[in-house]
This record gives sequence, structure tokens and C-alpha cells, in this order.
Amino acid sequence: MDNELRKVTHVENIRYDKAAEELVILDQTLLPNEEKFLRLTTAEEMYDAIKTLRVRGAPAIGICAAYSMYVLARSIPEDADFYPKLEEYGAYLNSSRPTAVNLSWAIREMLKTAKENLSLPRAALLEVLYEKAAAIHEDDIAKCTAISEYGLTVVKDGDGILTHCNAGPLATSQYGTALGPILLGTERGMKFRVFSDETRPLLQGARLTSYELQRAGVDVTLICDNMASIVMKNGWVQACFVGCDRVAANGDTANKIGTSGVAILAKHYGIPFYVLGPTSTIDIACPDGDHIPIEERDPDEIKNMWYEKPMALSDVKCYNPAFDVTDHSLIEGIITEKGICRAPYTESLAALFDNKK
Ligand code: MRU
Repeated sequence: MDNELRKVTHVENIRYDKAAEELVILDQTLLPNEEKFLRLTTAEEMYDAIKTLRVRGAPAIGICAAYSMYVLARSIPEDADFYPKLEEYGAYLNSSRPTAVNLSWAIREMLKTAKENLSLPRAALLEVLYEKAAAIHEDDIAKCTAISEYGLTVVKDGDGILTHCNAGPLATSQYGTALGPILLGTERGMKFRVFSDETRPLLQGARLTSYELQRAGVDVTLICDNMASIVMKNGWVQACFVGCDRVAANGDTANKIGTSGVAILAKHYGIPFYVLGPTSTIDIACPDGDHIPIEERDPDEIKNMWYEKPMALSDVKCYNPAFDVTDHSLIEGIITEKGICRAPYTESLAALFDNKK
């Protein structure tokens, strides 16, 4: 692996600085123009970093939340009632973004660990919480690597792959999910031709995906979201790879707004559409996509952001859902660290949570 590639697949988007006792994140809102790291110390800063997408991508949000819970646990005074205060912090962080289930999953994991170790002296309890957050982080690296290996089995050298939003190292810990097979295959000398949807309105595809892939030496072509149909019609796409923010028990999948349109187009052109994500993104308690909460964001993202001048009347009505749900019938496979699930998803996804597996 050359240095540039190592730089990309090992990007330090989130880390805990033990010496300074601070959580450090790469501010993704400034990319690709500036690489700036932020130090988060208060609950308000952590909430804001997640809400404003300074840290984003379902697994990365989960990792950030886990370290945040540890940092906040450290701030609880000796004489305060520890667990209720930690629960309060968890509820606050959890309200920052509703759709990515990794957020509530990581907070739950941290609270469970705290509860199980409440009898320990405070210093030992904090150490256990640090180890749990670090384990969630380490575990995501292992999961992304396994997802990347499984993903490589459904494509071949030379294939064209279309992706939407950003599900690369920045959104996870390493390799990524949807970009994982592409980066891993590139390390092994394979060549892919990737089409990256720009992903309106927050441009994760333009700002992050094309940046990550180009730096890794992958042949990437940036397209506007409304160009996906023509590149598929031209025969340039052999598979679609997307990430996920929450997968329901029946396989319905919430991902960045516009993903379901890509899946519908892929069906029309007979192109397999794959969802890639860790099992921590599967919400087995959620029966179907109708039960997934969809975040609605500020209309300013559509009307003003990125533009020198407003591009719409200030009082025009806007609808700005951040995610949509892709129907399970459009999905060829859901690629997890435990293998590839195929229809019927109610059975194949449930089997992942069978303890024997
Ligand atoms: O709003 P974002 O940028 O957090 O949305 C991210 C996505 O939709 C990703 O595709 C998803 O979280 C998977 S990241 C591996």
C-alpha cells in the first residue's frame, strides 16, 4: 500500500487524546478544502458536532457517541448520582439525530457497561467505559474489513460501481462500508470505475466520496444525482453499493435521501443494488421502513447553503428529508460483517442475531 492510500484508508476521523483527555474529530463540513480537527469536551459541543454533520455517517456517529459518553462520564462529580446523570447525557446526545440507529445503539452499549460496573470505584469504572468505547471503535474496523471482503465477492475487476452519499473511511473507522470493497480491491491491484452521486443537498458524494476515492487512486467520476439514469443506460454501471443508517427487520433500508431513487433506477436497468453495513445498523426491533424515523433538516440547506446568493425565494416552502427508505424488494443483498443476506430478509436478517451464528 502506498502512503497516499494508507493516509486515506486509515484516516483518523475520530480519536480520544488520552494525554489531553479530549475527544478529537475531523470536521467533515470543511472537506475537501480544509483538514481541521476539533476538540470536544462538553455535551453541547458533542451534540452540535453530530447535529451539524461535523461527524457523520452512521458508524462514525456511533463511535463518536461512545467516546462522548466516556468523556461525559469523567465530568460527573464524585458526589453526584453517577448513573442517572450519565443517562441524562445519553438521552441528550441521542436526540441530536434520529435516523442512524448506531447512535442509540452505542449509547445503550455504554449505559449497559456502566450499569454492570457501578459497584467499581470511580476510576476503575471510568477505565471500563474507556475500554468499551475503544472496543466499539476497534470492532468497527474489523467489521468494515469483513464487509469489504464480502463485498468484493459480488464484483469483478473492471466493473463500474455507482454509489450515493458517503460510506467510506470518513463515515466509519477504516475502509468504510459501501466504499470498502472498492478500497480493499484497489489495494489488491483491482481496477474499478466508480460513479459518485454528488448527493444533494449536503454534497457528501462531491465533498467526501470523490475526495476519498481520488486520493486513494481510484478512477472516480463525479455526477449530479439526476445523471445516475444516463450512466446506467450507457452500460457503465455493473453494481450499486450504498451504505445504510437503519435496516428494518424486513430489509427496508433508510439511507441518504435519493438512495431509493437509485435503487428504482437500478431495478429498471437490471443492475444489482447492494446495501453494505455492520449489524449494529440493523434494527431488528423495527418491523419495516414505515417505522423508521426520518430526520427533516433546515430548508436553508436547499435554498442558500453553498450558494453566493440565495437560490430561491426566502419564503418558498421547502421539504428537506435527510433520508429515504429503499424497499427491500429492490435490494439484491445486504452485505454485513457476518455475510451477505438475501431475500427473504425477515429470515436472513433474523439469522444474524441467532446467538449460534
Ligand atoms: O447525513 P449523513 O451524511 O450522516 O448520512 C450518511 C449516510 O446516509 C450514509 O450512507 C450512511 O450513514 C452509511 S455510512 C457508512
